[in-house]
Amino acid sequence: MLSLKPMTTTKFVTEVEDIDLSQPIDAVTIKDLRDAINRHSILVFRGQSIDNDQHLAFSRNFGDLEIHTVKQYLLPDYPEIIALANRGENGTTPIDNGGAYWHSDISYKAKPPMGSLLYSLEVPPEGGDTLYTDMYAAYDALSEEMKGTLEGLRAVHGYAARFAKMGEGGKRPQLSAAQLAEVPEVSHPIVRTNPETGRKALYVNEGFTLSIVGMAMDESRDLLDRLTAHTMEPRFVYAHKWRVGDLVFWDNRATMHCATAYDTQYARTMHRTTIQGDVPI
Ligand code: OGA
Ligand code: MN
Repeated sequence: MLSLKPMTTTKFVTEVEDIDLSQPIDAVTIKDLRDAINRHSILVFRGQSIDNDQHLAFSRNFGDLEIHTVKQYLLPDYPEIIALANRGENGTTPIDNGGAYWHSDISYKAKPPMGSLLYSLEVPPEGGDTLYTDMYAAYDALSEEMKGTLEGLRAVHGYAARFAKMGEGGKRPQLSAAQLAEVPEVSHPIVRTNPETGRKALYVNEGFTLSIVGMAMDESRDLLDRLTAHTMEPRFVYAHKWRVGDLVFWDNRATMHCATAYDTQYARTMHRTTIQGDVPI
């Protein structure tokens, strides 16, 4: 039996207590964790001490791992691990505040990742929280009229424009032709159904969603802006204050997240693995 301790008044975020992620986890517990992430969307494991191999081993219990298109943040010996390290790590490019916009990881792929597991090694004394928003609750709270409007609509997601925007004073190179070929624009349903539970979530995000299929550009922009404003309402949002040794496992199918600022004189080092997912329905 998992020991779950809610961290929000809703079902959204729960801590999983009394579990040591450095050890192999039995099949029953893995099944319970899968059930838990379908119910809660964000699982928080505190006080962990795991090395890269243990991080990979735990992550692989939930599926094959994604290797990011952009290589400069990947640990040289562990390409399945993205280092969000503001001092760099083993030659990775330093990154102060990756993901400082609302997004669901890699939603721009035809098969976006099911989940991400972010583990903290060094955190600033304050700031650098990660905000998460509950896209099931955001969907449920829409008016019936809006739910009707969104029914059957699809949105286009892409990476190239976002990557170019992230260029800090031209410091970041553009995507190469080969990288661009890996990330052609794709479309996904705006209302996404979890195939295991039938629950519906909004599935558009500020970071990567470009337009709505079959809609005039200004109308599309307007509707996306309204949905973005709605999903960011504080009632749907949880702010995770990191401690060293936290591992947060989130469901990309039903959440968005956003990095926040901190004083960069302090080191911040996080490792992320990313679990492959299915074509959204
Ligand atoms: C991520 C991400 C935000 C943060 O790991 O996918 O967006 O606060 N991280 O580091
Ligand atoms: Mn992210």
